[in-house]
Amino acid sequence: MLTTSKRANTIIASPIRKFLPLMRAAEQRGVKVFKLNVGDPDIAPPRLLFATIKKYHQPNLGYAPSPGISEHVEAWAAYYRKFKVELQPANIIPTVGGAEAILFSLLAVADPGDEVIVFEPFYASYKAFAAMSSVKLVPVTLRVENNFALPAAAELEKKITKKTRAIVVINPNNPSGTVWGEKELQSIIALARKHNLFVICDETYREIVFEQKPFSILRIPAAKQCAIVVDSASKRFSAPGARIGCVASLNADIMAALLKFAMARLSAPTLEQYGLIPLLKNSTGYTAKITAEYKKRRDVVFSALQEMPGVTCRRPQGAFYLIAKLPVADSEDFVKFMLSEFNYKNKTVMVTPAADFYMTKGLGRNEIRIAYVLNVKELKEAMDILKRGLAQYLEKK
Ligand SMILES: Cc1ncc(COP(=O)(O)O)c(C=O)c1O
Repeated sequence: MLTTSKRANTIIASPIRKFLPLMRAAEQRGVKVFKLNVGDPDIAPPRLLFATIKKYHQPNLGYAPSPGISEHVEAWAAYYRKFKVELQPANIIPTVGGAEAILFSLLAVADPGDEVIVFEPFYASYKAFAAMSSVKLVPVTLRVENNFALPAAAELEKKITKKTRAIVVINPNNPSGTVWGEKELQSIIALARKHNLFVICDETYREIVFEQKPFSILRIPAAKQCAIVVDSASKRFSAPGARIGCVASLNADIMAALLKFAMARLSAPTLEQYGLIPLLKNSTGYTAKITAEYKKRRDVVFSALQEMPGVTCRRPQGAFYLIAKLPVADSEDFVKFMLSEFNYKNKTVMVTPAADFYMTKGLGRNEIRIAYVLNVKELKEAMDILKRGLAQYLEKK
């Protein structure tokens, strides 16, 4: 009998997508579904992206060079300079989204069976990439009641074994919206250096911070050898379909390893690398505009949740997500209820059950993640529907 690999069997279905059949069924019944489940921004990217791609005039659509189109890589370097990070082109490799940068980083630091520490809740795709690279993720639990604060170094040290190769930090965080500042990053770097570990810092949402200034771990001199940054054009330019990200490090050995993976997959998309050049060179106007918009939305969602009896959440400081603890035993059952049984004036809301953002079994079962990717007017309506849905669900139980 032909069988698929054990690796394939360990990968879970995307938590974000597994309720799509129920959502489609609701829509077929004529129910409008407000989608607060995926981090797919509803905001248009800068028009310049399309205008630049339209100007592409080469007769062929060839592979881009594996280390990236040089003007594109220079544009990333210029982009980083705005955050006081000095990178040479050799420190940056464009990737197929931040997603590929995550996979390459894990492959570059760890061998099969090695361990990588993650703070849970975390972006669930890391689980799939860990399975693909046969890396074991070791969770450190952060709690909503504690504002997802970084635990003391001694707590983290308990998780470090002979097999530990790296610590993953997602900052700003998906799904919690937490932003760690220089102080937290410094203490993670100190720990990493003490134990000879890499720090994979996923800064996909770098500029989407509401109370702080955008920051990169690469600014910290002590991070020079250990930090690997996962980056992405998807969220800061509202262009996830461009499938462009990059991986950046000041560690030459890491860059050499990453380049081998990049060569194996030939190149990141050619047209989109061109299209993003002017955006990267002049990013701040657009990112400031969308961050102001997300901040308004954050306030709408957070204050609406404050009004819901029994709901616990913390005010997120960045990205466009939050984790809310609900007075329910099983948030998956609640999400199903919202899609299959409930509607208010023929409308309902889709959110993501949070359990899959955790490694530890049982955690997150009474939590949901909300992605505030709708405009303020729609969000207000969606939050009102969520409140009504939750009340009806609790009544039914
Ligand atoms: C924390 C984080 N990292 C990486 C990604 C991957 O994004 P992309 O591959 O579109 O750059 C996402 C997408 O949601 C994310 O939330």
